[in-house]
Amino acid sequence: MTGKAKGSDAVAAQPPTTQRVVKVELGERSYDIIIGQHLEMGGLIKGLRPSVVMVVSDSNVDALYGDRLEFELKTAGVASARFVFPAGEKSKTLSTVERICCECAERGFDRSSVVIALGGGVVGDVAGFAAAVYARGIRHVQIPTTLLAMVDSSVGGKTAVNLPQGKNLVGAFHQPSVVAADIAMLRTLPDREYMAGLAEVVKYGVIWSADFFREIEREAGRIAGRDEEILRDVIAGCCRIKADVVAIDEKEGGVRAILNYGHTVGHAIEAASAYECLHGEAVAAGMLYAALLSERVKGFVMQDVLRIARLLRQFGIEPKNDAVWRGMAWSDIRRAMDVDKKKKGGIPRWILVERMGSVVFGCEVEERVLAETWDVFRRGGLDG
Ligand code: NAD
Ligand code: GLY
Repeated sequence: MTGKAKGSDAVAAQPPTTQRVVKVELGERSYDIIIGQHLEMGGLIKGLRPSVVMVVSDSNVDALYGDRLEFELKTAGVASARFVFPAGEKSKTLSTVERICCECAERGFDRSSVVIALGGGVVGDVAGFAAAVYARGIRHVQIPTTLLAMVDSSVGGKTAVNLPQGKNLVGAFHQPSVVAADIAMLRTLPDREYMAGLAEVVKYGVIWSADFFREIEREAGRIAGRDEEILRDVIAGCCRIKADVVAIDEKEGGVRAILNYGHTVGHAIEAASAYECLHGEAVAAGMLYAALLSERVKGFVMQDVLRIARLLRQFGIEPKNDAVWRGMAWSDIRRAMDVDKKKKGGIPRWILVERMGSVVFGCEVEERVLAETWDVFRRGGLDG
């Protein structure tokens, strides 16, 4: 499928409170994304009336926030258990999901039980998938703790684990009951992870709203400095855009594909680097490559390609991992792309930018042009 997507430039105005609430409108599967500081999680989860909850987390996040959440749940009168796995993409496997499900079964979890994903995108994907398949699907709550998870992976119901053959090859659409993003948790997030999350923030401006992109440019200094006031609005803005896209196309039959802008090459770089590149870093490089490709085949103006490059550089994402992907030939990228599920019938489909805030998806591009653009890109064609 091919198509066009032009977002509305009006990212809905919010009342001046200390919290932002964005609704994902999906009929009976609608839910709120709550964004604030020091959110009271116990009461929020008690409101779901779970028989018992399983808090799934990774080793880093559990050490930082596991006890606090357990205490809040206990104080609210919610019975809970904890499942912790080693931090990192390597844990995003079927075997981790099996262990979570076994733990749930041993504790007698039933259809009224709830899984809580406390962590970044890895935890969210693994715990969300376990909730999707345990007892043919139980409810889950996303408590994202990385910037990437707050603006992207915790919202929209995509859950998945990796196979040796490639990323996210086994998964399900399973919407959470609520997403609670506590910005204060970002204070402990390492700089590199924070910066990688900013790549997804930039993505929303490019694919949906030129106004939002300008806002990010204007506030780049405060955003890079983790100013929580501006972050609250920026995260809400990203979630608003993602919620709008998901409400139109929950299961990626069409327009939702635009959320994968920069991911075709991004996923390939991630895999070809054996995950040395973080997801967000690889996506940043993928977005720049796709912007340059858009300039060649869609007439996207070079001035705007350079604005994207400049912003990513200002956030310190580019050229962080240059050495990794600059060493890759187009054939390396192409090989890694061949196991990516986003191509149809062996032909990769591209999301290309026509102008800032407006993209087209499902585009085919000649192999020769792809390879030439890669060579220009990796030789530093965007350093201007
Ligand atoms: P991650 O979950 O591995 O977290 C990054 C690192 O930060 C980990 O070491 C983690 O332990 C640590 N961490 C997390 N929160 C912390 C905090 N508050 N303080 C200190 N340390 C903290 O990585 P990620 O970037 O959040 O997510 C990447 C994953 O998300 C990938 O697997 C990607 O495929 C997936 N993803 C999914 C979707 C989706 O729609 N489901 C979208 C985008 C990405
Ligand atoms: N991160 C892409 C999506 O949720 O569709």
